[in-house]
Amino acid sequence: LELIILKLGGSVICDKSKPFSIRRRVLRRIANEISKFLKEEPEKKLIIIHGGGSFGHYAVQEYLSLKGILDLEALVNVERIMLELSTTLADYFIDAGIPISILTTHSLVMIDDERELIINTRYIEQFLRMGVVPMMYGDLIISSKGSIKVVSGDTLAWELAYRLKANKLLFATSVDGVYSSKPEFPNAILLNELSLSSMINKVTYSETSVYDVTGGMFRKLIEGIGKIRPSMKVYIFNGLRAGEIYRALKDRPLKGTVIKP
Ligand code: IPE
Repeated sequence: LELIILKLGGSVICDKSKPFSIRRRVLRRIANEISKFLKEEPEKKLIIIHGGGSFGHYAVQEYLSLKGILDLEALVNVERIMLELSTTLADYFIDAGIPISILTTHSLVMIDDERELIINTRYIEQFLRMGVVPMMYGDLIISSKGSIKVVSGDTLAWELAYRLKANKLLFATSVDGVYSSKPEFPNAILLNELSLSSMINKVTYSETSVYDVTGGMFRKLIEGIGKIRPSMKVYIFNGLRAGEIYRALKDRPLKGTVIKP
């Protein structure tokens, strides 16, 4: 039984420069790519996780700049906004024939005192067994201490990949993969492969590391430490490139970075 976890970055599904803007054409294409793959390989199990894009990030930033903390008002409103984004995605996916069930992150995941996620994985596994494609997303969640925290889609993706022993973890982002320096720099080279342990060594030696990735990319990688398994294939690639999500699901993206332990 092969399990694939696909994280759709917020900048793939949304235009992050504008609040509440969804890339509808991209969504339609992604829905068709996933649907085509599942029709060809119906025995594969898939979990989709998406980011906050210009919905969650925007709303969280608004509350933080307004109040400095995430309170109950932030909790209920961000949860509602994220569910709205997720429902929009589900509309496209279900229309393309993908049996999506939105598993609202805040009702399935809590955080404990030690910053460990408490996740009801049995529930997710049963959905998978029944042939459903569960969809979760970055969200606000409650902690056992009574505080409210942001859980990113990346954190969820790594955590679920680890706990459910996923065979493949795919990060569809808005760049081609991990670069040797900022992608905007002319000398930046796309890395075909990156080992998390070697990256950590380099990073601890100098603040401005060899792998001068963006905050987002860097965090995405750091979170994989301790969660990546040698048997897990991890790709970071460009989900805005037509056909690339399909090719990544098929194990042959045109470009991208393979992440190794
Ligand atoms: C953010 O999720 C969730 C909220 C802000 C509520 P992610 O961190 O996974 O989102 P993207 O992929 O960067 O947009």
